[in-house]
Amino acid sequence: MTRRTIGIVMNGVTGRMGYRQHLLRSILAIREQGGLPLDDGTLLWPEPVLVGRSEARLRALAERHGLERWTTSLDEALADPTTEVYFDAQVTPAREKALRTAIAAGKHIYTEKPTAESLEGALDLARLAREAGVRNGVVQDKLFLPGLLKLKRLVDSGFFGRILSVRGEFGYWVFEGDWQSAQRPSWNYRAEDGGGMILDMFPHWRYVLDEIVAPVRSVYAHSSTHIPERRDEQGAAYRATADDAAYGIFELEGGIVAQINSSWAVRVDRDELVEFQVDGTEGSAVAGLRNCRYQHRVGTPKPVWNPDLPATEDFRSQWHQVPDNEVFDNGFKVQWELFLRHVVTGSDYRWDLLEGAKGVQLAELGLRSAREGRRLDVPALEL
Ligand SMILES: NC(=O)c1ccc[n+]([C@@H]2O[C@H](COP(=O)([O-])OP(=O)(O)OC[C@H]3O[C@@H](n4cnc5c(N)ncnc54)[C@H](O)[C@@H]3O)[C@@H](O)[C@H]2O)c1
Repeated sequence: MTRRTIGIVMNGVTGRMGYRQHLLRSILAIREQGGLPLDDGTLLWPEPVLVGRSEARLRALAERHGLERWTTSLDEALADPTTEVYFDAQVTPAREKALRTAIAAGKHIYTEKPTAESLEGALDLARLAREAGVRNGVVQDKLFLPGLLKLKRLVDSGFFGRILSVRGEFGYWVFEGDWQSAQRPSWNYRAEDGGGMILDMFPHWRYVLDEIVAPVRSVYAHSSTHIPERRDEQGAAYRATADDAAYGIFELEGGIVAQINSSWAVRVDRDELVEFQVDGTEGSAVAGLRNCRYQHRVGTPKPVWNPDLPATEDFRSQWHQVPDNEVFDNGFKVQWELFLRHVVTGSDYRWDLLEGAKGVQLAELGLRSAREGRRLDVPALEL
């Protein structure tokens, strides 16, 4: 069997996402399984070149995983003709410039979201990649979660009849950092450093709604900074200048209404950290990260409003689990595999920089809606 090596410049691998999901659970996992088999029998072997700002941290990371290639110079990594793909999981404000440099160096692009901080920047990246003829992809990991794959299965089967509405709850309590350390990086809470709930999560909600339910046509968002002061990684107090919660209403094609609450200042009374309830004329479902439960029209109870009586039914027991029926791999790894196949064989891949720009568009409009207090249309995007 022939083995083909593909060099991947990985920038931002000392970070939460870059390390755990992309290096460990995706690229190193592909190597542990012996490589990525292609249709013609070739085994694709990803060879990461770690890039970051701290020599000591990169060296330690490389040693821990038996990797040999790392550098603090992005230019050096991009000048190397054996690297074909550039991947970016840096903090959001550092992304656009690095992607531009990588496109100019002729590398194929794979990147975390949001692809840029402005729609103009995101569209420009998509244009540049097209002009340079490089293949490109944007992480849309939620589409590959077992719970949402099961929800998609229900939609595709026609289970819902006419879909009426979606209600999403996302969030958990992120500690302020005073008496317990915060479990997310402090830049997430500073607008000037690319933080904020809308910029972080609306890109996800865009592709989840567009692809699983129906295209998003308008947005109204109310945002808040519920916790105005937090403590950073060093324990120093800082002002939270970004929104830590966003309450969004999205109109979808066909008159479907989606409401999604996103908050880092909410305590979890749900089965999973994100849940979407979809109600349709024929049935309803609640999907989380892993599970999806459904209730068909024929199994729907008929509650009668009477506050004088205790609840007469155990509503939560009236739902059924959608079975797995398949083995689910890590969603980030599944998407990496699709992208790498696309780079090498030209196979179909639709989550490109233009799709990524749609996420930035919804975030930008969401922020404007929150500022101006009004509903905004989401126009179609073209390059
Ligand atoms: N797909 C998802 O579900 C998901 C989840 C969380 C974050 N993200 C995205 O991933 C990116 C990284 O988020 P994270 O939570 O891993 O953050 P993080 O703070 O843990 O990691 C950020 C990385 O960028 C590097 N970095 C920090 N400051 C920098 C600077 N000024 N210049 C260049 N590099 C710098 C850090 O060294 C680190 O490697 C963000 O763009 C975020 O939107 C995606």
